[in-house]
Amino acid sequence: MMRLATIVGARPQFIKAAALSRAIGEHFNKRISEILVHTGQHFDHNMSQVFFDELEIEPPSYSLTTGAGTHGAQTAAMLAEVEKVLLYEKPDAVLVYGDTNSTLAGALAAAKLHMPLIHVEAGIRSFNKMMPEEINRVTCDHLSSILFTPSDAGVLNLQSEGLTMKNFQKASINNPVVYRCGDIMLDVSMHAAHKVSQMSLSQLGIAFVNEDFAVCTIHRDSNTDDEKRLHTLLETLCKLIENIKIDIVFPLHPRTAKSIGPSGLQKLKLIKGLHVTEPLSYFDMQLLLQHCKLVLTDSGGLQKEAYFSRKPVIVLRSETEWIELVDSGFATVCDADETRIIDAAKHYMKSPPAAWPALYGDGRAAHFICEKILAHLNS
Ligand code: UD1
Repeated sequence: MMRLATIVGARPQFIKAAALSRAIGEHFNKRISEILVHTGQHFDHNMSQVFFDELEIEPPSYSLTTGAGTHGAQTAAMLAEVEKVLLYEKPDAVLVYGDTNSTLAGALAAAKLHMPLIHVEAGIRSFNKMMPEEINRVTCDHLSSILFTPSDAGVLNLQSEGLTMKNFQKASINNPVVYRCGDIMLDVSMHAAHKVSQMSLSQLGIAFVNEDFAVCTIHRDSNTDDEKRLHTLLETLCKLIENIKIDIVFPLHPRTAKSIGPSGLQKLKLIKGLHVTEPLSYFDMQLLLQHCKLVLTDSGGLQKEAYFSRKPVIVLRSETEWIELVDSGFATVCDADETRIIDAAKHYMKSPPAAWPALYGDGRAAHFICEKILAHLNS
């Protein structure tokens, strides 16, 4: 039996963990035993527990209380606590997801203890090292023994950094192996599709004004911590409602709510057609994606989830890691530029993409990942 420590901490990681934990439970429970460690990076109920409840993830074996802080302080606190768990549990391998500070903390803890590290969502690059996530993912990839990348672009990015698709029998930090496995978020989206199809939009209690609506999320520090950019983005949302007669549902991340402030929030809530909500659960967000016409976001995960639901995306950043979405016309990078955002919205409303080829695999990434972990690390 292989003992696998998986490290989660932030909202998108709970979603990814749901797929892997289910695959282990259903198909590999005689060969893999999972030790789930929650770093505590996200702690509000609607940023954390709600995903465990809805996606039926077993409670973590360890729930650490490291909380918020500057990037350095937050990462250091998580590193120290995760290390204690790993020293105690002595797992055969450690698995991390994505690019958050929890990912980096888990990766460093494992590498320093000479435990093989597995990175799910390897090879993704924005080529912007001002993003904390870019630093986290690059570091994590170069500490990993097995790298699972979701896309062709990921394979090429890793290749250009010397991480090639060699097939060492025994994977290690010095002999890493790379696999393209599709996107593990697609596993979850496909699993949830039936349940979401039975839900009704009316259960969200949103009083829509227009027939069509868009979903918008903003949470990156590059947007929330720059007052001018945030102001431009919020003004642009108002103009979109006016100009193209579309409602906008705007679930607010705690960071964004803090930046907007209580009086700003009061004003936003008075705008007809703009629906400011608390952060949404997984199923509620999938329900909105099923019914909306358009997504505006600076999130990475939501760009792909929109694509899984066949909805075009306006990226509220100056670049995206999910370059295949842009190349195929499913996403347009608009930064915080009012004209570009409005033009792209008009375009997508008038001519939405007609065909949606499978860019991120077949929804069986978790199964594939378990098989390869056993093949390369089971001693
Ligand atoms: C983190 C990830 C980001 C990911 C996002 C998903 C990093 C560097 N960033 O960003 O890549 O897209 O998660 O949501 O790891 N807060 C609360 N309650 C919570 C969580 C956060 O109040 O449950 C507040 C805290 O004041 C905190 C701030 O939000 O300081 C930012 O949270 P943090 O976890 O540092 O980063 P995110 O912006 O959530």
